[in-house]
Amino acid sequence: MTDRAATARPKVIVTRQLPVPVEARLGELFDVELNQTDAPLSPAQLADAVARADILVPTLGDHLNANVLARAGNNLKLIANFGAGVDHIDVETARRRGIFVSNTPGVLTEDTADMTMALILSVPRRLVDGVRHIENDAWQGWAPTAMLGSRIYGKRLGIIGMGRIGQAVAKRAAAFGLDIHYHNRKRLHPDTEEQLGARYWESLDQMLARMDVISIHCPHTPGTFHLLSARRLKLMKPSAYIVNTARGEIIDENALIRMLEAGELGGAGLDVFEHGHEVSDRLKAAQNVVLLPHMGSATSESRMEMGEKVIINIKTFLDGHTPPDRVVPAML
Ligand code: DGY
Repeated sequence: MTDRAATARPKVIVTRQLPVPVEARLGELFDVELNQTDAPLSPAQLADAVARADILVPTLGDHLNANVLARAGNNLKLIANFGAGVDHIDVETARRRGIFVSNTPGVLTEDTADMTMALILSVPRRLVDGVRHIENDAWQGWAPTAMLGSRIYGKRLGIIGMGRIGQAVAKRAAAFGLDIHYHNRKRLHPDTEEQLGARYWESLDQMLARMDVISIHCPHTPGTFHLLSARRLKLMKPSAYIVNTARGEIIDENALIRMLEAGELGGAGLDVFEHGHEVSDRLKAAQNVVLLPHMGSATSESRMEMGEKVIINIKTFLDGHTPPDRVVPAML
């Protein structure tokens, strides 16, 4: 950091509105610049922020690509992301420019796993259909053949990406009587597999063909973009359900929509979409889908803890240590 940062309080620029106590604490500790409007910064504003900040606190949707990072001033030494996923940051370019990147893993695990379970339950059991039925005054009373969904108990759940969130989902799903299967870049330790009662599939294709529900929990990287391609989606049973609380880009959304429209899949529960918050009208019109506005980690508790992690990462870095949640390209 330059003399200015060493002598004055470091300039921390926050790109989006954060919980009030987090903003207040940031304000006590640093020369902080907040975005009170909660509107994402424009590319020009983002470029201006990286040019002026000692530390930038961005979040999902702030595209810190090589072009924007090329505008970074010499002062910018840390990008302390508010969020676990860093697919909006070109971490390799940041590393080459000597900028540390940190994130907020761990504190949104349980909430995201809860929301995943909510989708795993809602789609096969037609929860949202049921709510709409009542709201539309269509309910004529209980009937033996009305509102039939599919049983969850005893079905096979295939988890793609068995990190923290994948494992938290596995624990919950086992309690609902689902049979747990997983595919991961690296096989888990046998003790962990035993604790989770999870069966490993080295071949994603083979796992996909045998599951009743697929749930996605891997990060979005160049290697996982369209991991669930049209070809792979076609391997799934026509009765199977797909749940995604990770990143939309992991599924070829067009291919998914075509299959849902053709009745070639049981349904989908999606908290994330391939094109950010632009949700396809065809997806909205499809049968057996539950669509959520990226709510997986949306609890007050998790947002506070994410903020605390951001502060700890910044403080540790300013004290001359590696931020505890440093992200390096090799981790991605
Ligand atoms: C993250 O932190 O990356 C999550 O997707 C937010 O819910």
